[in-house]
Amino acid sequence: MATPYPQRHPLMSGPFEPIRFECAYADLVVAGDWPAELEGALYRIGPNPQFAPRGPYNPLQGDGMVHAFRIANGCVDYRNRWVRTSRWRLEREAGRALFATSDPRGHDPSVAGAPDDGAANTNLVFHHGRLLALEEGHPPIEIDPESLETAGPFDFGGGLPGSMTAHPKIDPVSGEMIAFCNFPGGRFDGSLELYEASRSGEVVRRRLEGPFPALVHDFAITPRNLVFVVCPVTVSMERVRAGGPAIAWEPALGTRVAVVPRDGGEAHWYRAPPCMAWHLLNAFEDGGNIVVDLCQQAAPAFPFADGSVSPEADLRQYLARWTLDPVSEIVAIGRLSEIVCEYPRIDERKTGSAYRFGFFATCGGPGTGDLVHRGLGRYDHSTGRMEVWRGNPDEALSEPVFAPRRPDAAEGDGWLLATIFSERSNRSRLAIFDANRLEDGPLAMAHLDHRVPAGFHGIFVAAP
Ligand SMILES: [Fe+2]
Repeated sequence: MATPYPQRHPLMSGPFEPIRFECAYADLVVAGDWPAELEGALYRIGPNPQFAPRGPYNPLQGDGMVHAFRIANGCVDYRNRWVRTSRWRLEREAGRALFATSDPRGHDPSVAGAPDDGAANTNLVFHHGRLLALEEGHPPIEIDPESLETAGPFDFGGGLPGSMTAHPKIDPVSGEMIAFCNFPGGRFDGSLELYEASRSGEVVRRRLEGPFPALVHDFAITPRNLVFVVCPVTVSMERVRAGGPAIAWEPALGTRVAVVPRDGGEAHWYRAPPCMAWHLLNAFEDGGNIVVDLCQQAAPAFPFADGSVSPEADLRQYLARWTLDPVSEIVAIGRLSEIVCEYPRIDERKTGSAYRFGFFATCGGPGTGDLVHRGLGRYDHSTGRMEVWRGNPDEALSEPVFAPRRPDAAEGDGWLLATIFSERSNRSRLAIFDANRLEDGPLAMAHLDHRVPAGFHGIFVAAP
């Protein structure tokens, strides 16, 4: 029998509690009118440790599990699979956790020097016909889009020498995939390695020297530039050796923003006040300026270097617009909404260009006293209004993913897909919303008889 998970751990219980099994269901029970025009698959991924963790649990290193909802003709099929990382296979064989998720010094001695291709738990990308599971400390792992079986690490034919961000961007015009590596070569020296993979998968690489060894999780692209918001959350092994935290909040360093020309030109750096931004919504060029929209918090949950922590209210995340003026070198920052929101998504056909709508998880999250989000939001730049749909108080909403009605439909004309976990029933369902009528609530739901643990990110891949 399996060892129970530590049920009292806040990130291993309730909406976060992992599941132990893999399954495939054809034709889920659907309530409501599921739009027959939508054809494709929603893939979601998140940490789902197969065994009770070894030492303190860090979900950023929990085994990745993929959940796929395949949609056609108003019907929804479901399948889930763990990503077979090298860690997962070794632990499966041993029947217990061998890798510590918080501190590698806690690994079982039997896996010292063992190959380690990461946790594959943060996000997915579909590029050049390949579905890749991503975790920023390691290379992507290729997954079969139908069976979800693991093919293994994918390095673009040798073009990707190291790890890759979990938030690559696909240029909607050229089809290129643009990505980066935080801490290339495992050195915590502040540099980033930038990658551009053509539609056919060839990779061009170059280096960006950053101001300090910051944790950079996401970035944005425009047709001519890459934009990196480098927040003062630093990683330092010297600090660990001195008994301090590996990752620390150092607001005195301030925030820097790099605008890197895609044609190979020199990066232009801006200074901004200290803050944390995990996820960027979008960026675009506006005359000579660059506009960047992101979810900003006054401080992250990471401790200061001395171990003290920021006030809880500073952790709240708000949508903000940063305007970068290359002449005055000023970053103008304006909060767009007073509604707390995270997991920002757009209609990805508008990646890098002026756009109207942003979609979010809302009603909860860091700084609100509730770890999970209880609703979804849609921000409209033309009205400056965040429209919100709130689920029942016992329900947890995933990040919403937009799927257009047709390839040529207007921006935002389509659907939002999100999983809803009910604490009362301990089950999840896939909900579909009309993206233009979020406040009306779901059009239809496809019901599972088990939970989909609150994970991180998802993507929709339209049927060819
Ligand atoms: Fe993320």
